[in-house]
Amino acid sequence: MEITVLSDNFGVEITKFDCSENIELNDVKTLKDLIQSKHFICFKNQNLDGNSLANFTKNFGNLEAYPEKDKTKGKIEIFNVSNVSENGEHLSPDDQRVILQKNNSRWHTDSSYRYFPASFSILYGQETLPNKAIGGQTEFSNMLIAYEHLPEDKKELLEPLHQVHSYNDIRRLEPGLPELTYEEKSNFPPVTHPVIRVHPDRNYKKSLYFTSNTSLEIGGMSLEEGKKLHSWLVDYISQEKFCYKHYWEKNDLIMWDNRVLLHRVIPYDYAKYRRAMIRGTVEGAEPVLGPFSNQIRMRL
Ligand SMILES: [Fe+2]
Repeated sequence: MEITVLSDNFGVEITKFDCSENIELNDVKTLKDLIQSKHFICFKNQNLDGNSLANFTKNFGNLEAYPEKDKTKGKIEIFNVSNVSENGEHLSPDDQRVILQKNNSRWHTDSSYRYFPASFSILYGQETLPNKAIGGQTEFSNMLIAYEHLPEDKKELLEPLHQVHSYNDIRRLEPGLPELTYEEKSNFPPVTHPVIRVHPDRNYKKSLYFTSNTSLEIGGMSLEEGKKLHSWLVDYISQEKFCYKHYWEKNDLIMWDNRVLLHRVIPYDYAKYRRAMIRGTVEGAEPVLGPFSNQIRMRL
């Protein structure tokens, strides 16, 4: 494999490596080290389907299943991040599957609505936008660097705060989506996560951890103040100095660390362009730890 660094902040590109083959253990170790240190990997020129993507994803942990059992077709562990149906039909922008894609244009980390959110996501571009099109890129923001650059008074303000992450609240932001079933809601009750996250596997470094796709508020203060702080955070982490934008080429496979990066799709003309991707997701193995979590307080 050949590895090229993509930006000063994070990210590498890998060529001459086939993710559809069984990966040797020493290569798995190299990839795990790279995702830990660089947070984002783009594998060029891949040729995958749902099964081979699932097999590749399993190198990094257990596959996470999609929360809405009855509303997807095919493999429940492979999400269609797409405005194209299973049968290849270009879906209308009003289709509920496309509305769900629009919610991906808000900054988020995947499955933050889970008690143990996903660690890695692995997304394969089957159909991508032409170069001349506006939008369609996936943008990432590095929360370790964003935290480092926070003014001290903001670090102090944010330290004890939590955000509520609720899968059902996606319906509040996107009212065009169908209601969840009682079972789906019960399987994914709201959860709170600390806004400042501590990483035991990175020498207890701290990072920001919040999203805009499940709620737009921060707890521990009035509703109004929480909304204002959330909106400040969105503007703050959107600064170019923390971000890297992936310009898709067909057959790119990208992998990122949800514990460190937020991401969003840059909106595009959903009626004009087809964008078809499939995603494998690696289950998280632990809760999001904050400065006041017992596991952190006992160790520090
Ligand atoms: Fe996502």
